[in-house]
Amino acid sequence: MDLKQLNAFIAVAELRSFSAATAKTGLSQPSLSRLLKQLETEMGVMLVDRYHRPLHLTEAGTFFYDKISTILTEMDTVISMTQRLSTPSSVLNIGFVPSILYGLLPEIIAMLKQSNPDIEVNLKDISSYQQMDALKSGDIDIGFGRFAHQDPWIQQILLRHERYVVALPKSHPLANVREQRLIDLANNRLILYHQTHLPISTTTTTTPIANKTIANKTIDNKPINNNKPSRLRNQPLSTEPVTEPLLYLFAQYGISPFMTTTVSDLQVALGLVAAGEGITLVPASLKTVRTEQISYQRLIHENVTSPIYLHTLKDFVHPQIPELLSAIYQVYEQRGITYRRQKFVSQL
Ligand code: BEZ
Repeated sequence: MDLKQLNAFIAVAELRSFSAATAKTGLSQPSLSRLLKQLETEMGVMLVDRYHRPLHLTEAGTFFYDKISTILTEMDTVISMTQRLSTPSSVLNIGFVPSILYGLLPEIIAMLKQSNPDIEVNLKDISSYQQMDALKSGDIDIGFGRFAHQDPWIQQILLRHERYVVALPKSHPLANVREQRLIDLANNRLILYHQTHLPISTTTTTTPIANKTIANKTIDNKPINNNKPSRLRNQPLSTEPVTEPLLYLFAQYGISPFMTTTVSDLQVALGLVAAGEGITLVPASLKTVRTEQISYQRLIHENVTSPIYLHTLKDFVHPQIPELLSAIYQVYEQRGITYRRQKFVSQL
């Protein structure tokens, strides 16, 4: 069994067509068929059902595809990491989720460049999950995000927890209330914008104590739990874990906002708030966005926060990462932000 045979199988399995697989691999159709046949003969297993169109995998083929594609991806990661170890790039490639950019990131990069004038930094806007693949493929060396990841290749540092603030239209009756409570916000349409949901395991133990749903009006596309007044009295509570990050914050206090609208990102969510379409919660560093139309107010709850994580590979820590961490801590010190100094461990 060799890599050529495995790559031929992967191409056919993914494209479900010999002609599409020949275009992808650059092999002729007879060569592709021969490699696949050799693989099946060596394994003594039929992997592809050739008698149906589009082609599909046998049960054994599906199992083999699931396992072998993971192994081949890991092999690519190992090759790319080995190449980087031998000649680390002089550029530090940094991935970040958009909400990080509104906060301290520009200041941290300026501090890093001030202390290391020769450093070259490349910033890439990239979602939390994609950062994991980008770290493995070498597209980025470090990623800033707001979710913890459990991945055997990745290590992470929790930098700090940032308080959420509520974003309300300026004309909202609560717009000038300085200290807000989630319970007072639950009667509004809540605009949700997270693309990444919390891992189930972090939420299974926090089923709402009681769903204090405030109203049952339907203004929008998503009334929560099809609320009816009777729900407030005798209905059993939902035991499904809440994984949507903003709903999770409300659920911690036993509250279900009565109406939600989901949008593609944080900028759109703030646009809708500005247009008077609802309210949302954003990390405090977003407080400078659209301030003519939006009023940002503190929440009294200290644990309504969004974490900021730094991720990198376990086996390869780019030589400039300690400098980046020290720039972050310098900015925290200048701003009086409480933090705990941490280091990434280099396994090699
Ligand atoms: C922060 O707000 O703590 C932060 C923002 C960007 C990068 C690192 C930290």
